[in-house]
Amino acid sequence: MSVPQLPEGFVFGTSTSAYQIEGAVAEDGRGPSIWDTFAAREGAVVDGSDGVVAADHYHRLDEDLALLRRLGARGYRFSISWSRVLPNGRGAPNPLGLAFYDRLIDGLVEAGIEPMVTLYHFDLPQHLEDDGGWLNRTTVDAFAEFAALIGRRYADRVTHWVPVSEPAVASMMGYGTGEHAPGRKLSFEALAVAHDLLLAHGRAAIELRAAGATSVGCANNHAPMWPASDDEADVGATKLFDALWNGLFLEPMLLGRYPADIAPLLEDVVRPGDLATIRQPLDFYGVNYYSPIRVAAAEEGAENPFRFVPLLGHEQTATGWSVVPHALREWLILTRARFRAGLPPLVITESGASFAERPGADGVVDDERRIAYLQSHLEAVLAAVERGVDVRGYYVWSLLDSFEWSHGYTTPYGLVHVDRDTLARTPKRSFDWYADLIAAQAAAT
Ligand code: NOJ
Repeated sequence: MSVPQLPEGFVFGTSTSAYQIEGAVAEDGRGPSIWDTFAAREGAVVDGSDGVVAADHYHRLDEDLALLRRLGARGYRFSISWSRVLPNGRGAPNPLGLAFYDRLIDGLVEAGIEPMVTLYHFDLPQHLEDDGGWLNRTTVDAFAEFAALIGRRYADRVTHWVPVSEPAVASMMGYGTGEHAPGRKLSFEALAVAHDLLLAHGRAAIELRAAGATSVGCANNHAPMWPASDDEADVGATKLFDALWNGLFLEPMLLGRYPADIAPLLEDVVRPGDLATIRQPLDFYGVNYYSPIRVAAAEEGAENPFRFVPLLGHEQTATGWSVVPHALREWLILTRARFRAGLPPLVITESGASFAERPGADGVVDDERRIAYLQSHLEAVLAAVERGVDVRGYYVWSLLDSFEWSHGYTTPYGLVHVDRDTLARTPKRSFDWYADLIAAQAAAT
């Protein structure tokens, strides 16, 4: 396979999140988060699993840092567990929690790897959820205090910051459909949560900058929305879902307004000054891309006006998502055309695929399909760059096989296989492929 040659300075990286890899959920003073509570609920996670052990990263930090050094990628994106640092969400910090992230960040910096830190990746301290969670605006205040604390502690060593990962998933799936923690099924009422998460993003960006952070961005999940047919009802449903999933986050962050189609639904929630707080300057706009979504109008009387239909004719991942790399190229080109000078440099903060290959008799994890996914998506990024889109980096989701939320351990995304019994790490063929690509890229520039 040929190697996509990206511009000089382009950052190759990998991505993880705290609850998905750390384990050690009740150790060294960590408080419970909504994912601890939710995963323990009967039927919430398909295989009945949870993040109690996860990839045991908390205890295997040195081994995982060695893997990162061996990979040779310049960037590593991870999240800080709020309830490990502030067990109740606010108040006195837990020194052991802070010390863990000191070791991680120092290890990265020593290895010449740029830390990209996410402050919120779905794991709200349970204590704050008990007070209403993201439906209560005091949670936004608590998050701003957490951001200030983390900024003061680490801004001297952290290269890039992401205040909130995928507010679309956290709000729609956590509070809208209930597939994620905290499992609330509020349907359109979850728009209030989306607004509070956007406010949390803005407030944290302000605090991080005040603490000395110089590169603050975001990591929003974006999916091109394709209508199931050219029937007016399907096209209308697609437009609405596009506004809810994409526009709801893009527009306030970049333009300081909500999409016209859904703004009326937020009238009671938005207070004067909120949109200005949300629209903070972004040093980069992070895009988490996996797959397009095919949308149709729902049947008469259904709870939601849209439904999702399979996107046939493409390879499917273990998650059931279609592999469509050209959709990423198009999304990048169209977004650039839409926002022009108002669009900050882009970074692909997550991209990857779940395929469940395991070590063969020879110990090799032959994940050819993951290699093909990464190669074709990097080529899509390159094609967009050649059309003038400013994309500065690509972070593979994920470094390790990890706890995949309501899919448990059934849909592994790692470049490194993690044995569920022994927790032994085995770099997959995709790991070596990515390491070679990074080395070849460095040699050519
Ligand atoms: C995006 C989320 O940020 C991450 O936590 C998740 O594992 C991947 N999508 C794959 O579903």
